[in-house]
Amino acid sequence: MIKIFITATDTDAGKTYVAQLLTAAFVNNNYQVAVFKPISAGCEIRHLPQGDVLVNEDAQLLLQQSNCGQSIEEINPIAFQPAIAPHIAASLINTEINLTEINAGYETVIARNSDVVITEGAGGWRLPLGKGKFLSEFVQHTKQHVILVVNMKLGCLNHAVLSYETILADGLDCIGWVANCIEPMTFLDENIKELQSIIPAPMIAQLGYEVDIKKAALAVDISSIT
Ligand SMILES: Nc1ncnc2c1ncn2[C@@H]1O[C@H](COP(=O)(O)OP(=O)(O)OP(=O)(O)O)[C@@H](O)[C@H]1O
Ligand SMILES: [Mg+2]
Repeated sequence: MIKIFITATDTDAGKTYVAQLLTAAFVNNNYQVAVFKPISAGCEIRHLPQGDVLVNEDAQLLLQQSNCGQSIEEINPIAFQPAIAPHIAASLINTEINLTEINAGYETVIARNSDVVITEGAGGWRLPLGKGKFLSEFVQHTKQHVILVVNMKLGCLNHAVLSYETILADGLDCIGWVANCIEPMTFLDENIKELQSIIPAPMIAQLGYEVDIKKAALAVDISSIT
C-alpha cells in the first residue's frame, strides 16, 4: 500500500488540487485509491434523514476522483463549520482535536486495503491541533510519504525550504514536490531552478493553470511516486 500525505507551503496553495490530480492519475492506471482529509474547517450543513452532516468541499472533491466507495464521514471524520484555524473552531464548540481520533479515522481507511491512500493535510506542515500538538505528528505516527505542494509566488522559496527541512527533521520521507503555478510569476523558471538546487527531492510535476482535473491528471507521471 502506498500512503501519501499532501502538504503545502500554505493554505490555498493547491493541496486539494494536487490530491485530486494524483488520485485521478492513479485511478487512470487501475489502482484502487482511497482518500482521507482528517480535519476540515469550512463546511456546509447538509440535512439528511439520519441527521445533519457537515460536508467539506475538499472531501467531496477527493471523493469524486477516488474509487473505493467511501462515505464523506469516513473521508473527513473531523469537520468544523467556520473556515478558521481548526483548533480555534474546536474551542468554539468546547471540544478538542485529538490525535487518537485522527489515527483511528485513518485506520478505518487503511482497513479497506486499497493500493493507494492519499491524505490531504490542512494549512501547512505545522498545523496546530491545540495543546502543543500538530497534525504532523499524525503523519509521523502513520509513516506516510510526504509530497509538498509549492504555490509558486513571491516568498515561496523561504516557505518551501522551511517546510522541506522540517519534514525531514521530523524523520519523514519527502518523496517529491510540486510546483503549482496558479498565477503568473516573474522569473518563474529561475525560482523553480533555485528550488531544484536547494531541495534534493524530485519535482514531481510543474502545473500550470488548468481547471479540467481529468485533463491535468493525464500530464502527471506517477512512476516517480510508485
Ligand atoms: N494548477 C491549478 N489550476 C487551476 N486552479 C488551481 C490550480 N491549483 C489550485 N487551483 C485552485 O486554487 C484554489 C486553491 O487550491 P486548493 O483548494 O487546492 O488549495 P488547498 O491548499 O487545498 O487549500 P486549503 O488549505 O483550503 O485546503 C482552488 O479553487 C483550486 O481549484
Ligand atoms: Mg484543500
